[in-house]
Amino acid sequence: MSALAVDNIGIGFGGLTALDGVSFRVGNGEIFAVIGPNGAGKTTLFNIVSGLYAPSKGRVQLGVDDVTGLEPHRLAQRGLSRTFQNLQIFFRMTAAENVMVGRHLHESRGILAQLLALPSVWRQNRATRAKADELLAFVGLSAFADRPAGELPYGALKKLEIARALATEPRLLLLDEPAAGCNPVETQEVDAVIQKIAATGVSVVLVEHDMKLVMKISNRIHVLNQGRTLAEGSAAEVRSNPAVIEAYLGRRKGEADAQG
Ligand SMILES: Nc1ncnc2c1ncn2[C@@H]1O[C@H](COP(=O)(O)OP(=O)(O)OP(=O)(O)O)[C@@H](O)[C@H]1O
Ligand SMILES: [Mg+2]
Repeated sequence: MSALAVDNIGIGFGGLTALDGVSFRVGNGEIFAVIGPNGAGKTTLFNIVSGLYAPSKGRVQLGVDDVTGLEPHRLAQRGLSRTFQNLQIFFRMTAAENVMVGRHLHESRGILAQLLALPSVWRQNRATRAKADELLAFVGLSAFADRPAGELPYGALKKLEIARALATEPRLLLLDEPAAGCNPVETQEVDAVIQKIAATGVSVVLVEHDMKLVMKISNRIHVLNQGRTLAEGSAAEVRSNPAVIEAYLGRRKGEADAQG
């Protein structure tokens, strides 16, 4: 059974076909990369899988369940979490608070109990804080726990987003360009965090332009071009695929070089 199965997905915006006939499966604990030139449809694919967009055709399955068109919070309850291509950090909150925000799904108390500040609520907040500390340690950000996020270096913010996405304890994690804008050292750190996550059995779908990172850590790679599947396979298979080389050479020479 796959953690995620996408079958014949399609969506258009006005006259533009953003995705058409895309299918793939992601296994448990697998790092599955989706790559492709700018505008290929990678983020749109994430938006469909995470429930922000309903596809005009096709099906999305989590495990054995058909979840096509379910709302994002329902998908989160079913073990799906994601990060966004642009930082979604609350800069005036501390790093720990940013992670705690991601944890709210697991909190059972209603708003009234929060207002009354029952001892059980405080206990729960302590548990939420403890979980946040655990996740910050997991991504290597313990030292920043009580610092306002706005004071963190860029690479730390990218890891903070991953920690927050992990706060709902997902089984499937979608990462949209987790190393974008990172320097080589920061990229190495993100690389290590992703591998640690997969080692815990969580399935990771990775959208990333850093080909060195993708080729190194992905079990399989799915290549999109202008909304359609161009290839799927191991790093070696994808790297030597003429259609893939053509798509990159034609549109992003720098990245094609980075593949070699
Ligand atoms: N909400 C939307 N409304 C209209 N067009 C959209 C919308 N979302 C995406 N598109 C278009 O769909 C196509 C695919 O966009 P998408 O953001 O999925 O590409 P991408 O592969 O993530 O690119 P990048 O590598 O630059 O992030 C693009 O032509 C984009 O302009
Ligand atoms: Mg994108």
